[in-house]
Amino acid sequence: MSFIFQQARLLNPLENLDTIGSIQVSNEGKIERLLLGSDPIPAAPGDRVIALQGKILAPGLFDMHCHFREPGQEYKETLESGANAAAAGGFTGVALMPNTKPVIDSPLGVAYIRHHAASLPVDLEVIGAMTVGSRGEHLAPYGKFRSYGVTAVSDDGSAIQNSQTMRLGFEYASNFDLLIIQHCEDNALTAGAVMNEGLFSAKLGLKGIPEVSEAITLARDLLLMEYLEEHKLHDPLKRARYHVAHISTRAALDLVRKAKRDGLQVTCEVTPHHFTLSDEDLFLAEKKGNYLMKPPLSSRENRDALLEALADGTIDAIATDHAPHAPHEKECPPDQASFGIIGLESSLGLTITELVNKGVITIYRAIELLSVNPRRIMQLKPILFQPEEEANFAIIDPELEWSLTLDSLRSRSSNTPFLNRRLKGKATAIFHKGKLLEGGKP
Ligand code: DOR
Repeated sequence: MSFIFQQARLLNPLENLDTIGSIQVSNEGKIERLLLGSDPIPAAPGDRVIALQGKILAPGLFDMHCHFREPGQEYKETLESGANAAAAGGFTGVALMPNTKPVIDSPLGVAYIRHHAASLPVDLEVIGAMTVGSRGEHLAPYGKFRSYGVTAVSDDGSAIQNSQTMRLGFEYASNFDLLIIQHCEDNALTAGAVMNEGLFSAKLGLKGIPEVSEAITLARDLLLMEYLEEHKLHDPLKRARYHVAHISTRAALDLVRKAKRDGLQVTCEVTPHHFTLSDEDLFLAEKKGNYLMKPPLSSRENRDALLEALADGTIDAIATDHAPHAPHEKECPPDQASFGIIGLESSLGLTITELVNKGVITIYRAIELLSVNPRRIMQLKPILFQPEEEANFAIIDPELEWSLTLDSLRSRSSNTPFLNRRLKGKATAIFHKGKLLEGGKP
């Protein structure tokens, strides 16, 4: 028996592929046949035919920035509930940030996640902590991480404040060819603050986060990278690679543009909430907790700068920063709320509704941002639509109108400002590990 994905729009930017065609996949999940054009692949008795006229067959989406809270805070999300939420959103793989309890700062934590991931429907890549306990003081064991298959390190949730630690981090990470993912924030500027500093924080009487906080940390890091490269203080063949998590301001985007022009190996990601919302939405919202995250929702001007950077290629990836929190951590006074929102189940819908359908980017570029580029940045095996390759697909209905409801959520948490928002475009299924999952369910 085989699966026949019949008459889809096959869209794989990695292969410059955007055409009608069909793909036959063996029972074990290997691609057996690719037929371009609108003729169907003939089915034998027992074959499972998935009719895909009007639908897109894309490489499985990959979210390079998620928090699944296991070990330690399973009441917010487990590896299993997070994986199911990912599958429901069209993702066949995610990268997990290490700020669990305890922090994933040793091979033991990596092994724990790998062990539990084996039976889950999506791949879970582990990002190791940059420093022990993510305390920003002593570097974690990068060499051991590498030997456990880790490809990136991060202290996401906070940034390394000490420039000497950061310098050593660059040298050590480049030695082991690990990507550094930085959460850019200057703690002295943001201490005790809740939302973007500006008219709306003033109106609400909430302490504001100055937007320069992001660019200040980023500028320091880029100066260090430049310094280390110019002075050849590390093996020139082992150049540092640096990725800006959840970029949110024009000033930071301009720094990334310059760094790319200067030839530094720098990439950046944006979240759907930052390209969709501004601090005015927080001001107008009744339940403010679901609009609070780090970096904060910024001004409309900065939101528009993100749209420009998505269109001009400055932004390399869309990542959710899926950050589950329980109701009591969100439905409380804003200055006591936990930062972050869930995003796996709304990411593709928001990308198509807010970016593709409004003409900011094409669906082809959306797939680059949601699948091809994050896999490349994380040094993962590319997904090819070729015979002998593992079938790893997201099936997308670009016309489907829907909204995320409390009942339909697969995540254990529901902290999102996007509940009941009308969206157009949805992943209806994934195919991965030899299994077809529709709506995240077999
Ligand atoms: O809002 C956020 N929440 N931003 C982060 O960087 C971390 C995340 C979390 O872990 O909750």
